[in-house]
Amino acid sequence: MAREFRLRKSPWSPEGEAETGQVLDRRQFIRYSFNRAAGGITAISLGAIGFASLLMGESGGGGGDSAIRFWVPKGSEDSVWYGDLHLETMTESGFKEEAGRSTTGMSGASGVWSGLPVNVVYIPHEENKNLPPMQNKPRIQFMDGVDQTGAVIGYGGDMEEDPVYAALKVSNNLLVIFGRCPHLCCIPGWQLIENNFTADNWEPGGLDSGGNKLFCICHSSRYDPTVVEKNTNRNRASGTVFQYFGIKRTGGPTPVGMPLIPFTVNNDVIEVVDFKAEGIEAMLDWYTYCD
Ligand code: FES
Repeated sequence: MAREFRLRKSPWSPEGEAETGQVLDRRQFIRYSFNRAAGGITAISLGAIGFASLLMGESGGGGGDSAIRFWVPKGSEDSVWYGDLHLETMTESGFKEEAGRSTTGMSGASGVWSGLPVNVVYIPHEENKNLPPMQNKPRIQFMDGVDQTGAVIGYGGDMEEDPVYAALKVSNNLLVIFGRCPHLCCIPGWQLIENNFTADNWEPGGLDSGGNKLFCICHSSRYDPTVVEKNTNRNRASGTVFQYFGIKRTGGPTPVGMPLIPFTVNNDVIEVVDFKAEGIEAMLDWYTYCD
């Protein structure tokens, strides 16, 4: 029997009102969210100027090319908190406000930056980082990344220490995560559907338990956006193996997690930093593994 997915109900829906919890089967969901998004994104990102050059957003414009914009998958306009903000710029204050309405103090949204899919997640790290690990008090957790043989690749906390990765340092309680699933390159999302992995709750430890995972609808891969690790991935076209700092895979067929994108908050607008100005062009390798 075909699996069905229920789009999340709008937080403003009266209790018991069912129509916003629209039910889609997997094929419909992929058509609504992935194919439409990926089709548009692919058309943009593989244009004449090429994938890598599109990564060169220019920071400082307060809503220019470097700005991250909301992406509302078709069919979920009434079920996500940013349903009427399609292609509007993302702001720190918007995420904070939404986080204040949640159980965990977290919020997240799908977005697009320079034609590429991203997810932005707000985690109340500053407020909770000195508390003992406890349920529904999320903070960013730095852990070791391991390959498929179990060998440790590196420690996520190194990105806070190594000046090469200064642009990735945790700031503003936000993370920007590249939105292509390392399994087969679908676009995972934040709470677009209802299941245990997307519920508004949180467990410490980077395990598959607890909700608030980034969930890939295609084959149910899960990622914990509160766990930062160092790991490796392989570019599908060139075969190059590269290291990255990213969020942790917690379950499903994906071999590893997804990389972080360096960002800044400029007059409240969330922007990707200018890779060239920061001298971190090498980071471009991280975002082409699906090419
Ligand atoms: S493409 Fe994401 S789980 Fe398969």
